[in-house]
Amino acid sequence: MAVQRTFSIIKPDATARNITGKINAMIEDAGLRIIAQKRIRMSREQAEGFYAVHKERPFFKDLVSFMISGPVVVQVLEGENAIAKYREVMGATNPEQAAEGTIRARFAESIEANSVHGSDAPETAAQEIPFFFKEEEIVG
Ligand code: PPS
Repeated sequence: MAVQRTFSIIKPDATARNITGKINAMIEDAGLRIIAQKRIRMSREQAEGFYAVHKERPFFKDLVSFMISGPVVVQVLEGENAIAKYREVMGATNPEQAAEGTIRARFAESIEANSVHGSDAPETAAQEIPFFFKEEEIVG
């Protein structure tokens, strides 16, 4: 399997609880390298643009409000099979369904405040990474 890049967000519920380091330790322990990272507060326009694919879904407004409610850490991760590996480390979107030992089983509070985001496919990663990072900000 080739080396891939994936996009990660540590969400406001996790920055509020000061657990970004604990989450990143789990990411690194899984063999993924954090090759770009910044702590930002997303604007409403950014959050609406980033989640545009979900704009017809009933939770869209809540999701955008939540994502701009506090700081987030946006990151690029690199490693063998990084997209699937990171989704495995995150666990299911709904923490009630997340497997034991995953980030969401350990830290997520609800389907909304679920601590992390990760790209779901190579095409998504290819859109999500440049949404927040210029190529020169990514140092592999
Ligand atoms: S997936 O992987 O796209 O199928 O996941 P999905 O269940 O469709 O959820 C997409 C993102 O929306 C968030 N979400 C919600 N936010 C607020 N309220 C409710 N009810 C809700 N349901 C889902 C979910 O955390 C996903 O966020 P990301 O950042 O994409 O992981």
